[in-house]
Amino acid sequence: LNYLTPKSRQEVLDLLVTGLKRLEYRGYDSTGVAIDSPDNKSIVMVKRTGKVKVLEDAIQEHFSGGDYSEPVLTHIGIAHTRWATHGVPCERNSHPHRSDEENGFVVVHNGIITNYNDVKTFLAKRGYEFESDTDTEVFAKLVHHLWKTHPTYSFRELVEQAILQVEGAFAIAVKSKHFPGECVASRRSSPLLVGIKTKTRLATDHIPILYGKDIRPHGPSRELPVLPRSESTSEFMPLEEKEVEYFFASDASAVIEHTNRVIYLEDDDVAAVRNGTLSIHRLKKSLDDPHAREITTLKMEIQQIMKGNYDYFMQKEIFEQPDSVVNTMRGRVRFDENSIVLGGIKDYIPEIKRCRRLMLIGCGTSYHSAVATRQLLEELTELPVIVELASDFLDRNTPIFRDDVCFFISQSGETADTLMALRYCKQRGALIMGITNTVGSSICRESHCGVHINAGPEIGVASTKAYTSQFISLVMFALVMSEDRLSLQQRRLEILQALSTLADQIRAVLKLDSKVQELAKDLYQHKSLLIMGRGYNFATCLEGALKVKELTYMHSEGIMAGELKHGPLALVDDSMPVLMIVLRDPVYVKCMNALQQVTSRKGCPIIICEEGDEETKAFSSRHLEIPRTVDCLQGILTVIPMQLLSYHIAVLRGCDVDCPRNLAKSVTVE
Ligand code: G6P
Repeated sequence: LNYLTPKSRQEVLDLLVTGLKRLEYRGYDSTGVAIDSPDNKSIVMVKRTGKVKVLEDAIQEHFSGGDYSEPVLTHIGIAHTRWATHGVPCERNSHPHRSDEENGFVVVHNGIITNYNDVKTFLAKRGYEFESDTDTEVFAKLVHHLWKTHPTYSFRELVEQAILQVEGAFAIAVKSKHFPGECVASRRSSPLLVGIKTKTRLATDHIPILYGKDIRPHGPSRELPVLPRSESTSEFMPLEEKEVEYFFASDASAVIEHTNRVIYLEDDDVAAVRNGTLSIHRLKKSLDDPHAREITTLKMEIQQIMKGNYDYFMQKEIFEQPDSVVNTMRGRVRFDENSIVLGGIKDYIPEIKRCRRLMLIGCGTSYHSAVATRQLLEELTELPVIVELASDFLDRNTPIFRDDVCFFISQSGETADTLMALRYCKQRGALIMGITNTVGSSICRESHCGVHINAGPEIGVASTKAYTSQFISLVMFALVMSEDRLSLQQRRLEILQALSTLADQIRAVLKLDSKVQELAKDLYQHKSLLIMGRGYNFATCLEGALKVKELTYMHSEGIMAGELKHGPLALVDDSMPVLMIVLRDPVYVKCMNALQQVTSRKGCPIIICEEGDEETKAFSSRHLEIPRTVDCLQGILTVIPMQLLSYHIAVLRGCDVDCPRNLAKSVTVE
């Protein structure tokens, strides 16, 4: 909008497509864009099934040359990449969705509108016909209906009224041919930010919030009553810039190459851009609502979200781990003083020490980081430590007490199940601690305190460096909790010492890459891979198996070696690939037992053992040796060969490493 330098519509399209590419990792079964036609009288849409590249080619075909290359001073375009929740992936279901054949209102949406059936029935009765199977389309048509019935409403007011009628999760952006040069966006439970690019430094770092009259709480849409109009208060002071570009995006990586100045919108904020001004509105003001939204400066660098010399983001992220673990500890662990300060929780430590239980809650890989550190947390805090999958935790309506401390571990900070579990615990008065990699994410903002894992942006769908950084963050927490326990000082020193050499040891493990690739060649045509271990390495088995499943579509199971004889042993024969982690720690003898059980059933396991452990190595011709570290940190070194193995198997099987089928990086629906 009000471009710094006039842009042609083609350039606008390029900008949107690049933004989509940055977001592609969040979902990628179909894509679409909407821009104005050269005469500004209609909206042109292009949609495609598949990846952004397919859309890019279609755009080339549609818009090259002619009127689309004319520079314009202001323009609004919207674009979307979809990961299906309602309706199969196809062109008809891809976004933007429209209100009517004339493309009066077009909408892009993340999330799920849970009462869409009610709204659909309401609109169908009024003659609306639906062309897709999506929940999003009802939103476009609802805005259209409100526009017809309330012709004096502004664009922003129409969207405000529409969001009052919908339930569920959404981040939406709406564009209209009836309101050229305007865009309205809003969110509830799904992430949304506004990027602001200006030529000169912004004169303010806050945008006042405009509160409308308290007209009606959110509620289920029964009959869509005619709502009174919202009114702005006199505080109205939108951001007025002469030459500015605004970006609405669900993730900072889509805007970082344009600007590092962003506003994270809160639930039910409505942001409107009109005639080059941005304003943020809320319908209702409660006592503790702030007066303004802060414009924050992102620390992310564009290089951080580029692949560099690597073939895939996942590969890059695996190899970044010597640095990312150091970044997690930076400024927190003082090796010279053997002390640790976690700024985001330090004021809460006395309260945490008095708690009843520590509850660690997450999904997928983040859950595994809790499994990996549970034993150490129990040892150093001497508190009951409960580890929960967010979905199951919610299903069980698990009892939570005011004196519980609940950790929500999430790379993205947006995973819907984890966020719901957070809200559930917060409502019950527990202390909420966020362990996330995404500053400004929902989990971050809704936590009382927390630790940013500082691993840097993770783009590959399969999580790697975030896992090791989550792991380290939880280890640091355990160390903080035991700072004044005399009997634990020796143990703490041993761990601190191991942390100080961890980055070099990770580098050494990464040197196994070509050896792991050779192993992958042996394994990639198999149907299954069993990964066994126990104690501190059980989490590595679960995480390794998850990586193999996610990336290679092979069956894989992480098996607690102690459970081998209770069932899994039946799977073992001379053709079943087995990988075993056998390190010199308190469960070594038990692991050796399991190893012998496997070999006596003609299994020939690949062994992960400690450097120079000839005795263990002798049990198999195939082994990977990793440096010796303290038992509770072994999981960091043992998971890396698993990450590499799944990566190489995926490449050999021709799988799309960064975008595995059916999966998304950030699952913002329950
Ligand atoms: C998705 C991703 C997983 C991730 C999980 C939890 O399923 O595909 O890689 O571990 O979500 O994500 P979070 O952002 O909460 O860590």
